[in-house]
Amino acid sequence: MRVDVLNGVNLDVVGRRDPTLYGGLSLDELEARILTWAEELGCTARCRQTNSEGEYVGWCHEAFDGADGVIVNPGAWSHYSYAIHDALELLPVPVVEVHLSNIYEREEWRRHSVISDLAAKRIVGRGPNGYREALEFLVNA
Ligand code: DQA
Repeated sequence: MRVDVLNGVNLDVVGRRDPTLYGGLSLDELEARILTWAEELGCTARCRQTNSEGEYVGWCHEAFDGADGVIVNPGAWSHYSYAIHDALELLPVPVVEVHLSNIYEREEWRRHSVISDLAAKRIVGRGPNGYREALEFLVNA
């Protein structure tokens, strides 16, 4: 089973962002944990991050070929990118939306996600462990 884990804009600097919101791990550390959790759960995770919205859309298209589930944290794009919404809409496999921070307890503009209607599951405010919960959900889906 292959799970594509697509982190978007500004997740490359997550280790330098407010640790009380984002958990304090660097992207490398976060991805290492995701790979370990995936192994423990008997699946293969393919982790990628980009600050380019076009590249992110391309990876959503690629997931169509061979991914059994997709975990997305598009960062700020979650709040306004209809392009990412439309790319994810094509996927025949479950999509889990993860946010490290609790977007519902932050600024008003973060409370709306334009991809929420597509998500088979949404996990917010659980820090890095949110990705583990997402993997568990997909493995059991
Ligand atoms: C985020 C929440 C977004 O509002 C923010 O723009 C991010 C990260 C999260 O993981 O909590 O970059 O998606």
